[in-house]
Amino acid sequence: MTNEQYYELIKPYEDAVQLMLTRLEVLNHSIYTHSASVSKPVHHMQHRIKEKKSIEDKLERFGMTESVMNAKDRLMDIGGIRVICYFQAEIYELLESLKRQNDLIVIKEKDYMKNPKENGYRSYHIVFGVPLHTLDAMEYYPVEIQFRTMSMDFWSSMEHRICYKKDRDDKEELARQLQALSDSLALIEDELKGYLLVE
Ligand code: GTP
Ligand code: MG
Repeated sequence: MTNEQYYELIKPYEDAVQLMLTRLEVLNHSIYTHSASVSKPVHHMQHRIKEKKSIEDKLERFGMTESVMNAKDRLMDIGGIRVICYFQAEIYELLESLKRQNDLIVIKEKDYMKNPKENGYRSYHIVFGVPLHTLDAMEYYPVEIQFRTMSMDFWSSMEHRICYKKDRDDKEELARQLQALSDSLALIEDELKGYLLVE
């Protein structure tokens, strides 16, 4: 795909990501207003639009030609948001609130918090279809949201730094170690939660 085609392709995904960021910010402002003593659930958010090269590489991995049409049809993570919260329970509350927004559709979801990956990866992945209204039509655009707590994000960033695109011969042992560290971090998070004052 040409640069021009790429920039044309990503425009609506940028809009869809902005719309979802705003909804998340609104939730972060209002979700706990009924109890002033409870803090906002979101620590911070990151977002990105998938780069041209990553789109092309992924289509190639799928064995598809790198056309705009294939990208639109097959890639659900062209627009991506990462929401980093304090505690796991807050993630489920945010998810419930978003799912009640009935103009959004859920395209795909994976709960790697209840079912961590083999290597210890924890996160909640959900792809929402976000309605974009043009002058005479409406079309859903997918936005992938990854919800993590700070401890899950810490682990993921470190694991990515340690393992990404590296071929090493201690892979299995390393995976075991990383999984144990992921468990420890989950325990630490739980322990910290115990210190919260409940009113
Ligand atoms: P793709 O999105 O095509 O990769 O496949 P999928 O839909 O099966 O992906 P999945 O939901 O498992 O995860 C996709 C994204 O989650 C990746 O791009 C990463 O951002 C993140 N992720 C998944 N597994 C890991 C992991 O083991 N370690 C880290 N650091 N990140 C992961
Ligand atoms: Mg994905």
